[in-house]
Amino acid sequence: IKQSIVEENKTNPEMHLDDELSITEHLEKVFTKAIATAYPSFSNVPVVVAAVNGPSKFGDYQCNNAMGLVKKLKEAGINKSPREIAAEIQKCCPDSPIIKKIEVAGAGFINVFLSKEYAVNSIINMLRDGVKPPRVPRKRVLVDFSSPNIAKQMHVGHLRSTIIGESISRLLEFMQHDVIRINHLGDWGTQFGMLIAHLEDCFPNFVNESPPIGDLQEFYKESKKRFDADDNFKKRAYNRVVSLQSGDPKSTKAWQLICDVSRKEFQKIYDRLDVTITERGESFYQSRMLAIVELLRSKNLLELDEGREIMWTDDSKSGIPLTVVKSDGGFTYDTSDMAAIRHRIEEDLAIWIIYVVDSGQSTHFNTIFKAAERCGILNPNVHRVDHVQFGVVLGEDGKKFKTRSGDTVKLSDLLDEGMKYSLKQLQERGRDQILTHTELVEAQEAVAYGCIKYTDLCHNRISDYVFSFEKMLDDRGNTAVYLLYTYTRICSIARNSGEDFSNVAAILDKYNLELDHEKEWKLAKTLLKFHDVLIKCANGLFLHFLCEFCYEVCSAFTEFYDSCYCIEKNKDGKIIKINHSRILICEATAALLRTCFKILGLKTVAKM
Ligand code: ARG
Repeated sequence: IKQSIVEENKTNPEMHLDDELSITEHLEKVFTKAIATAYPSFSNVPVVVAAVNGPSKFGDYQCNNAMGLVKKLKEAGINKSPREIAAEIQKCCPDSPIIKKIEVAGAGFINVFLSKEYAVNSIINMLRDGVKPPRVPRKRVLVDFSSPNIAKQMHVGHLRSTIIGESISRLLEFMQHDVIRINHLGDWGTQFGMLIAHLEDCFPNFVNESPPIGDLQEFYKESKKRFDADDNFKKRAYNRVVSLQSGDPKSTKAWQLICDVSRKEFQKIYDRLDVTITERGESFYQSRMLAIVELLRSKNLLELDEGREIMWTDDSKSGIPLTVVKSDGGFTYDTSDMAAIRHRIEEDLAIWIIYVVDSGQSTHFNTIFKAAERCGILNPNVHRVDHVQFGVVLGEDGKKFKTRSGDTVKLSDLLDEGMKYSLKQLQERGRDQILTHTELVEAQEAVAYGCIKYTDLCHNRISDYVFSFEKMLDDRGNTAVYLLYTYTRICSIARNSGEDFSNVAAILDKYNLELDHEKEWKLAKTLLKFHDVLIKCANGLFLHFLCEFCYEVCSAFTEFYDSCYCIEKNKDGKIIKINHSRILICEATAALLRTCFKILGLKTVAKM
């Protein structure tokens, strides 16, 4: 190990500026090298670097490895104080274009001060070439999200999955991954038997003429009533499941008609929320379910249990087994997920699979992951699988979110209500007097859908949250409304200067970008955290870090704008001076926010 480090230091004496590396990653490299040089036998200790929040006399980033090394050195018989160690690490840091200076402080903290020149260049690059993602190894990722069930209500749980899944897909796409978005529709359950039987009775001519089923849920309830009350009907329903699964054309036709009714409803929601997803429901796996059962049987992994065929996930038979084949020979949710994970790995060639499903299903997914590993489909050294779980939505009474009459909330009603609230708010601000009709509708949608999505994303997804239009439409605090207003305010600055800032390159050729004022510098350093934030979001699949970052950017911007004139006017309101550098900072802030909003699914409007 020693040898190779010396070699590397010879050929690469200084740190190179790698624009696509995040600041933390770059500093980790710096300190890894420094520690390896100062203490070669401890060159493998994990380096701890973090951004400093608070007064910048402690630097902008901090490395806290000195404390930990004290103990390690002591074990090796060397007594040194953390301050001494910190000083030695400091001495061994390679020069880096992003660092202005490194100081040792207090009990042995190593404080890093960022270089302004580096910050200026990064912001100029951002303005010239657009906001770029951090560089990470490109992977094929499959995101399974939304996934409602045909003929059943698409509820707020599915809404959460839809919003979170869409944003995760956008995040990973922005980071240049190859993302496959999959809607694992529940389109193959035993409920289809009774639905088909009921369809045959209500619309005998359905093969030739599309049946006018207006309300599929109502249709579902009627058929369920008959199923529970009438034995003959029940028998016929069971037969229809068998004929459907064996590919009988008439049952297949009926099934398609029923699915189409739901599909159209789902699509309306996706269009309103600007969600893109490819349908690949449970039915898609019918032949593959037969194949996976064969595979498991041939590997002797199935066991008979009261007529069912089950599979344990390890030899000790702990936990809960999967039910792979029911006693009547039918398949289950487990069977389709086993077939699906195999298809995703072996045919889609995904090496990262993400399931965005409520926390209630965590046992199911853990069991599927373990079973897939046991039968040799999933290799944890190659594949990453995540159950991205989330909590429930609560009403303002703190109980599960329901309508006043106690029914589950229909998603289209919820979106309609959001539209009403946001219009009311815009009217209260008198915006209906200023904006054109089209602008008003655009603002209304941006606010309504934006605040529904943002409320969902800005909390740690694991926890439950309370759904309240009042709260989400607040224009103070970490809300979509605050962010969108701040964004439009930033955009208006360049517009109000009376100069054309659309050709940023031309402005950059003429004016320098300066970060002399304390608040300019603070805002710039906040913007530069972007890559670190994205990496953190992608690692844990948590979007609230990105929301917090947007809020931090908007707050830093507000501080900057309060103390730094961008445009100076005289008493008569005439512009007397334009600070081009500051307007460029505004433009960079706007560009960065726009990128974040895109990932979070917030639509920006020029005026609101
Ligand atoms: N349709 C299921 C439900 O509504 C969710 C499916 C999630 N995806 C999966 N591969 N199991 O609960």
